[in-house]
Amino acid sequence: MTAQQADSSAAHDAPPALQEHFEATIARDQRIEPRDWMPEGYRKTLIRQVAQHAHSEIIGMQPEGEWITRAPSLRRKAILFAKVQDEAGHGLYLYSAAETLGADRADLTERLIEGRQKYSSIFNYPTLSFADVGVIGWFVDGAAICNQVPLCRSSYGPYARAMVRICKEESFHQRQGYELLMTMMRGTDAQREMVQDAVNRWWWPSLMMFGPPDDASPNSRQSMAWKIKRHSNDELRQRFVDMTVPQAEKLGVTLPDPDLTWNEERGHHDFGTPDWDELMRVIKGDGPCNSQRIQRRRTAHEEGAWVREAAVAHAAKQAARAEKGTAA
Ligand SMILES: [Fe+2]
Ligand SMILES: [Fe+2]
Repeated sequence: MTAQQADSSAAHDAPPALQEHFEATIARDQRIEPRDWMPEGYRKTLIRQVAQHAHSEIIGMQPEGEWITRAPSLRRKAILFAKVQDEAGHGLYLYSAAETLGADRADLTERLIEGRQKYSSIFNYPTLSFADVGVIGWFVDGAAICNQVPLCRSSYGPYARAMVRICKEESFHQRQGYELLMTMMRGTDAQREMVQDAVNRWWWPSLMMFGPPDDASPNSRQSMAWKIKRHSNDELRQRFVDMTVPQAEKLGVTLPDPDLTWNEERGHHDFGTPDWDELMRVIKGDGPCNSQRIQRRRTAHEEGAWVREAAVAHAAKQAARAEKGTAA
């Protein structure tokens, strides 16, 4: 069933008992499962969110993947390989979760490569040195953890369960990044400069990963009422800043924000305002690497067509054999 079919086949005027059951399940903090009735808005919101999340995992393989062949040692190559492979796995769990909502995976991939569905803005920035691999692990996977740990309690069962495993792997990603940076900071002046340069380039785009500020994020409120989302963009951004500042101190790097200070009264760090115009430009397709990322994804999809065709042919052959077996 495609997403469009799911849209029209679900009951628009469901019996009140179903609606009540849905609302009571959400209120009791229990999970909505694929077999349950759900409002169309809930289903559509989830398909969009889970698909964007899946696309981000898959596109997110590219910026770091570029460094696999240029890793400075066998150990670093093995770590990076494992990490990028994990991201592929995250994409696959999430596409499967989207399928439980009636979405069609081939259709979602089409939407991605035609630019009709988004992925995280962060992956449209270039990776200029190997220090970027460390900083992506530290910032980007760190931000992913802030975003995704609360999603383990998301109201939609398959999404929440996928998040549990994904978060465990993200925590390895974050640590391998930080450990790489620690090693570089103990190295030469040139290595320390590479780390600081990468921190300077990735800090603001990482803060933008949490999305626009709350007052400019109208869909968030409904997502929170449905308990798909548990915290607002600004809350999660604050959590990330508070988590990262002491790590930066320990590492010996400076976060590029003159307004970053501890606010005793709030019990949180104050920080400057990200360039929201930049975020909007990158989301709309005008970031440094948008077209390259999509182009590469499209090429990989086209070049992988024979694998999909072979898998379909194999499945058909097996089904035919099984049928023959039962008939005999
Ligand atoms: Fe991931
Ligand atoms: Fe990750």
